[in-house]
Amino acid sequence: MPSQQDDPPVSEAEIKQENDDGIDSVLVVGAGTMGSGIAQVVAEAGLRVAWYDTSATAVETGLGRIEAAWRRGIEKGRRSEAEVAAFRPRIVPAVDVAVAAATADLVIEAIVEERPVKRSLFGMLSESAPARAILASNTSSLSITEIAGATERPGQVIGLHFFNPVPVLPLVEIVRGLRTSDDTVERSVALCLRLGKTPVVVNDAPGFVSNRILMPMINEAIVTLSDGVATREAIDDVMKLGMAHPIGPLALADLIGLDVCLHILDTLQNDFGDDKYRPAPLLRRMVAAGLLGRKSGEGFYRYDRER
Ligand SMILES: NC(=O)c1ccc[n+]([C@@H]2O[C@H](COP(=O)([O-])OP(=O)(O)OC[C@H]3O[C@@H](n4cnc5c(N)ncnc54)[C@H](O)[C@@H]3O)[C@@H](O)[C@H]2O)c1
Repeated sequence: MPSQQDDPPVSEAEIKQENDDGIDSVLVVGAGTMGSGIAQVVAEAGLRVAWYDTSATAVETGLGRIEAAWRRGIEKGRRSEAEVAAFRPRIVPAVDVAVAAATADLVIEAIVEERPVKRSLFGMLSESAPARAILASNTSSLSITEIAGATERPGQVIGLHFFNPVPVLPLVEIVRGLRTSDDTVERSVALCLRLGKTPVVVNDAPGFVSNRILMPMINEAIVTLSDGVATREAIDDVMKLGMAHPIGPLALADLIGLDVCLHILDTLQNDFGDDKYRPAPLLRRMVAAGLLGRKSGEGFYRYDRER
């Protein structure tokens, strides 16, 4: 939880004392929606963050997003200037991902949801990171066991599934692959607690618990819209006001990113071999048209450009 304005910043000595997971230095790979939130909460918890993205501008844009969040925190009295001054230098952009991995205790991957791209990254990380380092993926749906299979250390590969917006939502769904060791699970749980999050450990399966349940609902909301049953606002209102959801499924799809939703549904359909997860044709068309939700400025709703 954010500290009050008059709380003293956490000292380095206190951070070291609390640390029983052996993790001081984290490499975050990917500087999109999720990588930004993850880098922010990790730095706020007192750890050092090296931050890498293949896009030359993504880390800079992400740093701007984090800085804006910290400024809002100061304006609203949730953060002090001193706290933010202590957070800032903890995040350092990385130019070479292999070099950055060589000094990381933990790598958190938050790149594009594509199996071959993630497997290739994990293969490289397995060669570059120190022997004890944990390699974590923020994947929404891909098999942790399969990602671990691209490495020489499957016992130290785990899913750390954060939720969007990361600084706000308490859950981290910790996904245990077939060969993930107890030690890796225990250290990951301890780390999530240090980040102020609530870890829930689940086993590896397509979509884990969260997206196996959430994505069929979002998909059905999109089919309901394209069938002309109701307007986008009416669909969202029914779920908010009748089912006590804080946000409607179409607005939530925009927040998650329609491309991310499509990738997850494709994975569920392919990995379960069950057409009940078939993505709505309207979702596929919108992604093809570049209507990705908040991050592109338009999805089911229109937004002011966020990046
Ligand atoms: N968006 C959500 O609500 C959400 C929630 C939970 C988990 N996830 C998962 O988190 C991951 C990232 O999602 P996002 O929404 O932040 O995506 P995004 O599209 O906002 O950002 C992805 C970033 O990864 C970078 N990238 C792509 N390939 C790379 C590589 N090989 N090395 C380094 N950087 C690379 C891209 O340049 C981009 O900046 C995905 O696996 C997604 O499924 C997303």
